Amino acid sequence: MDSSVTLQMLESDSQTCTACKLCETRKTVVFGEGNTSPQIMIVGEGPGADEDATGRPFVGKSGQLLDKILGAVGLARADIYIGNMVKCRPPANRAPEPEEVLACNRWLEPQLALLKPQVILTLGNTPTRYLLGLQAGITRTRGTWHRKTFAWGTPLVMPMFHPAYLLRNDTKAVGGPKSLTWRDIQEVVAVLGGKDPEGLAPVQDELRLF
Ligand code: URA
Ligand code: SF4
Ligand code: URA
Repeated sequence: MDSSVTLQMLESDSQTCTACKLCETRKTVVFGEGNTSPQIMIVGEGPGADEDATGRPFVGKSGQLLDKILGAVGLARADIYIGNMVKCRPPANRAPEPEEVLACNRWLEPQLALLKPQVILTLGNTPTRYLLGLQAGITRTRGTWHRKTFAWGTPLVMPMFHPAYLLRNDTKAVGGPKSLTWRDIQEVVAVLGGKDPEGLAPVQDELRLF
């Protein structure tokens, strides 16, 4: 069966999920969307209010900034797939709890296995820490290439700042978070174009939840 059909079945199954307590407060399960055989998959933290209301990932202020970051290197939403660590909105936009992330991996793991992206961009601390098992925060890990081993392949992983963080630290200063993000997204595009990934860091296994 074609992977986009299977992905639609997975999405449809996810819509009634009650595997963690986020199901009690969500309006919509935000499964993810985009290119179903993407070079790049973006993994955010979890839906916010706008996403919970519309059922689509990254459509609020963060999403608008994300579109600009992608557009700056000639990427559109149709080129990539966008999803989140948890598919339901954490109340008051708190970070998802470890057991919520673990529960929601029942959707993320098969989603990744069907999409098989070459590169995963983890936005902010939550996806970076859970997917790579890193203790170091995003300020130290962003801009460095990692490789993660799955049963289906070994995609490169690039941690980047979360757009919500860029909105809170909106400076155009050289060396500021926006300029670092500009550097990071250019590096991603360069590597997809054939450049060697520099400074590939080993993945630490001890803290991996999955
Ligand atoms: N922030 C996220 O991490 N994900 C979204 O989908 C929207 C905002
Ligand atoms: Fe299910 Fe994930 Fe929603 Fe929890 S966050 S209820 S695991 S879909
Ligand atoms: N802190 C976060 O939680 N995310 C970022 O992207 C940067 C700092």
